Amino acid sequence: RGMTLTDKFGRTINDLRLSITDRCNYRCVYCRSGNNGPSFAELRFQDYVRIARVFVSLGITKIRLTGGEPLLRRDLLELVRELRALKTLDGEPLDIAITTNGHLLADLAQPLKEAGLNRVTVSMDAVDPELFAKITRVPNGFEKVVQGVRAAKAAGLTPVKVNCVLLRGFNEEQIVPFGVFAREEGVVVRFIEFMPLDEDRHWSPEIVVPLNEVVARLNTYMPLRHLDHGHSETARRYVFEDGRGEMGIIAPVSLPFCGACSRIRVTSDGKIRTCLFSVREHDLASLILEGASDEEIADRIRYAVENKEQRHHIGEADFMPASRTMVHIGG
Ligand code: GTP
Ligand code: 5AD
Ligand code: SF4
Repeated sequence: RGMTLTDKFGRTINDLRLSITDRCNYRCVYCRSGNNGPSFAELRFQDYVRIARVFVSLGITKIRLTGGEPLLRRDLLELVRELRALKTLDGEPLDIAITTNGHLLADLAQPLKEAGLNRVTVSMDAVDPELFAKITRVPNGFEKVVQGVRAAKAAGLTPVKVNCVLLRGFNEEQIVPFGVFAREEGVVVRFIEFMPLDEDRHWSPEIVVPLNEVVARLNTYMPLRHLDHGHSETARRYVFEDGRGEMGIIAPVSLPFCGACSRIRVTSDGKIRTCLFSVREHDLASLILEGASDEEIADRIRYAVENKEQRHHIGEADFMPASRTMVHIGG
């Protein structure tokens, strides 16, 4: 039964995003509420390894560790080593990546590389230190994160990607400075349209800075050339016309990419989410607690995939808020 996972809309699911904590050392204004919200239980790292192993036996080829802030888990290096030992159905090594806020990355980049990590994505919503502190609600993070980005590059966790969520009235003036940053640091900078996944439920269409505006602003600095992107890739890709500085735009609101979605998520408390906007989750943690076999876990995964949502309904009258917010889902 080593078949790949396909949903009822014909989409192949090969990309697992595994959250390993919903704790975070930042409290970004567009994500966390001001007063720290609740935290869900975390699984033992052997349980994440087991879940990952069963997913890989069903055709997953790419695993991204997320959070919360995944670098807060002390057993992270051991987890990466265990994932590195897994092989895809074709006998190839997995693509293993981490999404982090970068605050603890400077010291961990090299050990993570040695443990078998392929690459990192660092979330950074400003290249101005004061604005950075205002958004993250933590002082003096900017320098640490830039050191983290540089350490990741030096360790070969490449291509290093930097993700910036754009919020109208907050950081759209950072678009061109981020273009300069991409060129100077040799990283890929990607802008993300804000989605209704914030704890405070402050999302509105007016706060979204759309793809067209990002392209227009970058073009005033230097014309962009369009690059091809993979079928299930989230970002439209561009490069400045002189070939220096790759920019991406992730536009789930103005240009949804659900038709090519290859992703499935597991939360830090062991629940499958087949969409960022899932209302329903599928519980793996309780199965494991009850002593279920790998085959029973596989059956629940297949069942979840069969019931994967077709698409999100952001901005539509029938939009249903997700049952959990970004910090608990993992991005
Ligand atoms: P790679 O493409 O492997 O480099 O992964 P990445 O994590 O660097 O980027 P990815 O494109 O996977 O995700 C970046 C951001 O895009 C996430 O933090 C989300 O904000 C958004 N995103 C990712 N996957 C989805 C998805 O399935 N649906 C929607 N609506 N947004 C997504
Ligand atoms: N909309 C879009 N992206 C978001 N992220 C967090 N919340 C949102 C949201 N509401 C991004 C973070 C990080 C990744 C995990 O998801 O900035 O890059
Ligand atoms: Fe996939 Fe849901 Fe994201 Fe659409 S909103 S791309 S279906 S996870």
